[in-house]
Amino acid sequence: METGALLKQLGLLSIRDLHLANKRVLIRCDFNVPQDADGIITDDSRIRATVPTIELARKADARVILCSHLGRPKGKKGPKYSLESVGRWLAEHLSCEVLVPDDCVGDAAIHLVANQRPGQIVLLENLRYNEGEEQNSEDFARKLADLCDVYICDAFGCVHRAHASVSALPKLVPVRGAGLLLEKEIEYLTRLMTNPETPYVALLGGAKVSDKIEVIESLIPLVDRLVIGGAMAYTFLTAQGHDMGNSLVEKDHLQLARHLLQRCEEKGLPVHLPVDHVVVQEVTADAPMRIVGNGEFQPGDIAVDIGPQTIERFSEVLQGRHDAQAPKTILWNGPMGIFEMDRFATGTMAIAKAVAHTTATTVVGGGDSVSAVRKAGVTPLISHVSTGGGASLEFLSGKPMPGIIALRGGRR
Ligand code: 3PG
Repeated sequence: METGALLKQLGLLSIRDLHLANKRVLIRCDFNVPQDADGIITDDSRIRATVPTIELARKADARVILCSHLGRPKGKKGPKYSLESVGRWLAEHLSCEVLVPDDCVGDAAIHLVANQRPGQIVLLENLRYNEGEEQNSEDFARKLADLCDVYICDAFGCVHRAHASVSALPKLVPVRGAGLLLEKEIEYLTRLMTNPETPYVALLGGAKVSDKIEVIESLIPLVDRLVIGGAMAYTFLTAQGHDMGNSLVEKDHLQLARHLLQRCEEKGLPVHLPVDHVVVQEVTADAPMRIVGNGEFQPGDIAVDIGPQTIERFSEVLQGRHDAQAPKTILWNGPMGIFEMDRFATGTMAIAKAVAHTTATTVVGGGDSVSAVRKAGVTPLISHVSTGGGASLEFLSGKPMPGIIALRGGRR
């Protein structure tokens, strides 16, 4: 289904449907990007992902106003939460003047928007400097609504939050629609949940089964193979009776893991779990490492990565090497081990490359797996790298998304 058709079906307009010339267009972005101690942005992917929407509005002669949160300042201002660094990034990469008032509402913001000259961008300061943002306050939303004629949501990473700038605000601005990034996210993720091309393989990792229960539940009826790695696999392996030493196991979720495995079995869904592991006695930069199979753990062993046989098996599944047909759709969420430490990153890096070098439509969601594909240098080979962490998980769990619901019913 075409993107436009899908949005229409969801009751949403696209930024492409709206008249923007000379209008004050407020674009809710997700500029929640990591910065180092000097305020240097260490990963600008989220900003880059929303540039096409900003450029579309600028080319249409809109008066562009951007807003976002950054971190969790809980109503308190502070340099580490300021969007000034994002403003500098935008000024440099879009070659334009970017004005950042010291608050997203109030006199300075009103003045800058009222006097905005063609070509200038106004970037409102961190929305979360105001407690009204997280409280989904209508009063706060009204102040933002007063700054614009058109509202665009491009902040996929936040549409799972019932916060004022994504939930209360759109309802107050009749002319509203989805930005190009939000459209793309909705298109790819909806396809994964409604009519994925098969064979469809889901690869899940990360620390906890408890974070992914709903995602697994909603994927079981859809996928043809489920591959589970990372620490969450240790809970499943323990549930199958393996001793995982001191590895991270959610003991209070063993019953749930058994139940999920049983559901897969009843459905005839193959589940691939690791067969070997990299283990250490201490998670440090120089602790000796060993490779052990399931059932070979010594007391105190901590699994930190998948082992070579597992890499081989998982890669076979992802590339369809032992199947009649290679997968046509792959979803990956969650790393295979503690990949932040280089010596435990081998499994995650190998899997990132295996996902990248397939002919399938590949979707990577969740902050850690996104960092992993970047670290492996294969981001351009992935069909869609989602900008949402929590948002992509909630979307894939089929939960209602307040920021998408609030966007419905806009007019041109
Ligand atoms: C994210 O980083 O996932 C989004 O920007 C949402 O941030 P939050 O989890 O602080 O609401």
